[in-house]
Amino acid sequence: MKALILNSGLGSRLKIDYPKCMTKIFHEETILSRQLKQLIDVGIRDVVITTGAHADQLIEYCQNLDLPMNLQFVHNSEFASTNYIFSIYLAREFLNEDFLLMHGDLVFENEVLDKVLNSIDSCMVTSSTIPLPEKDFKAVIHDGKISKVGIEFFTDAVTAQPMYKLLRRDSKIWLDQIVKFCESDQKNCYAENALNEVSSECNIKPVDVRNLLCSEIDNPTDLAVVSTKLAEVNSRTVYIAFSTDVIHAGHISIIKKAQRFGKLIAGIVTDEVVSSYRKFPLMTCSERKTMFENIAGVYKVVEQDTLSYKKNLELLKPNYVVHGDDWQHGFQKPLRDEVVSILASYGGRLIEFPYSKDERLEKIENRSRIGISLPDIRRGRLRKLIEMKSLITAMEAHDGLTGLIVENSVVYQNGGAHQFDAIWCSSLCDSTSKGKPDIELVDLTSRIQTVNDLTEVSTKPIIFDCDTGGQTEHFVYSVRTLEKIGVSMVIIEDKTGLKKNSLFGTEVEQTQDSIENFSAKIRAGKSAQKSQDFMICARIESLILERGMNDALTRAFAFVEAGADAIMIHSRQKNPDEIFEFVEKFRAKDQSTYIVLVPTSYNSVTEEEFKNRGVNVVIYANHLIRAEVLAAQKTAESILKHHRSLECDSTLMPFKDIIRLIPGSE
Ligand code: SPV
Ligand code: MG
Repeated sequence: MKALILNSGLGSRLKIDYPKCMTKIFHEETILSRQLKQLIDVGIRDVVITTGAHADQLIEYCQNLDLPMNLQFVHNSEFASTNYIFSIYLAREFLNEDFLLMHGDLVFENEVLDKVLNSIDSCMVTSSTIPLPEKDFKAVIHDGKISKVGIEFFTDAVTAQPMYKLLRRDSKIWLDQIVKFCESDQKNCYAENALNEVSSECNIKPVDVRNLLCSEIDNPTDLAVVSTKLAEVNSRTVYIAFSTDVIHAGHISIIKKAQRFGKLIAGIVTDEVVSSYRKFPLMTCSERKTMFENIAGVYKVVEQDTLSYKKNLELLKPNYVVHGDDWQHGFQKPLRDEVVSILASYGGRLIEFPYSKDERLEKIENRSRIGISLPDIRRGRLRKLIEMKSLITAMEAHDGLTGLIVENSVVYQNGGAHQFDAIWCSSLCDSTSKGKPDIELVDLTSRIQTVNDLTEVSTKPIIFDCDTGGQTEHFVYSVRTLEKIGVSMVIIEDKTGLKKNSLFGTEVEQTQDSIENFSAKIRAGKSAQKSQDFMICARIESLILERGMNDALTRAFAFVEAGADAIMIHSRQKNPDEIFEFVEKFRAKDQSTYIVLVPTSYNSVTEEEFKNRGVNVVIYANHLIRAEVLAAQKTAESILKHHRSLECDSTLMPFKDIIRLIPGSE
């Protein structure tokens, strides 16, 4: 699309000796330089400018602007005795396509131009809210179409501004009439006089811009009013929250669109929020901030440290918030509702662009995500997650399929996506899935095969249950092997001899290791590891074996002294009191060593409460296998009972749904 800007007028009421369009309206910006830049922003590069008085000065000015556009100048040498109808007549040979027509003294905000360009039909700018002007243009509207434009119409009229989008079929009718007028020497009237005679053949719709800035500058008062309004327009801000770490064409397009409403403030969602409600960020918040600071058109970058926009909106009071329209429904709707009500409280506006899922771009993001499952990157992620979120959750998985379930399970809650942070490779469940007792019978080679199955299907960090860790001399090798395959944390328990599962408590014979012996094992493990990020967690069995709180605490501090990165305190009480007491007493002396809990028995306590008490890792140690066994037994019994599978079929997952869990099956 082309644009035609009419600049042949004299501008005598401004008492200036240069073309009116060169009048400065905001700092060094003139009416014309602003119009041209606005056209470039919407992709209009071919502009026809009619000239009159001071034509050379105008052409030189345009050339000095050095804008990336093609300017065509059409001189109206009879500018003193004709009106712009004659300038259009002279420019007609350049106007045989759709074009935008505007007067050279028109100042408008971007949204006006967008509304005009978004119109499917030919259109003219009108305002239903600005009172009818005495001497300026008004448009009469009949049947939703512009039927007359002129200064003399007051009935059925609205305020109108000389900006049109004209599709070829309509502009041809109008231009033909302009030719008739000019060739019969009617060159000193408005071009709209010609339009009014043929408007019934045209389809020009009003585009109501209400109170948006769109005004001609005829005299010093207009100039003062428009400059003040423009200063307000230029001070507007637009807020967008970003949690992405892969910038693609879609983001750039949103940024470009958003900037048209004001100075763009990018709210970069912090790592903690991204990892709590989306996925582990591939780049840290500070890296993502730097990336956005360097994107053209981003005015300012701030952090958004909650999923809710409330804090930033109340602080920054942006005029607009921009978001895709996908949050009008679904789990993000509460977030949107809050934004809408905060904006309403101070007169801000929400702008929503149609959201379209781009599978190609999703693939690019997923490809970048694959990198985080590589051993060296995966290993360090557990510590980073704990640092970001302070409390993380791990769910048990014992094979590829349960690994996929932990990887992909997500619940949309409070505007975000809630997921498990890590996988617990449990000795109990790994043994149980093989039909073996949990007595360190399944050897490390087999356990490592399970880890490999898990790391193949999941990107989540792995916490490995290494039972007693075996002989110290053996444990150092286990540490190296586990570290090499990308395990983040190994947990060893302070028991010795034939290990039995802790859930048996004192019902079975179990021996606790000495503090000295176990500390030596921890020390040996810590010096065997090669990387900084691998962690050894010392698990204390004193409460399970009913040796008392003091024993548990003494051991905890000794094991920290020996180099343990984390302490797991275990309990099989229904009541969480002894766990809370341990946590409180441990935290009173040690605020930094991570605390790990396995709340299988004291299962009424929420993650939020554990977090408030200073716990760092909550492990759901055996829940998936328990769910599987229950369902499997019921199914087997139902088939045996009914001699067919009909009765249990409705309780079973259709295989095509199971297949969907497995990448590459379809
Ligand atoms: C496991 O899951 O193997 C554990 C935790 O060690 S517990 O079974 O509670 O002892
Ligand atoms: Mg175990």
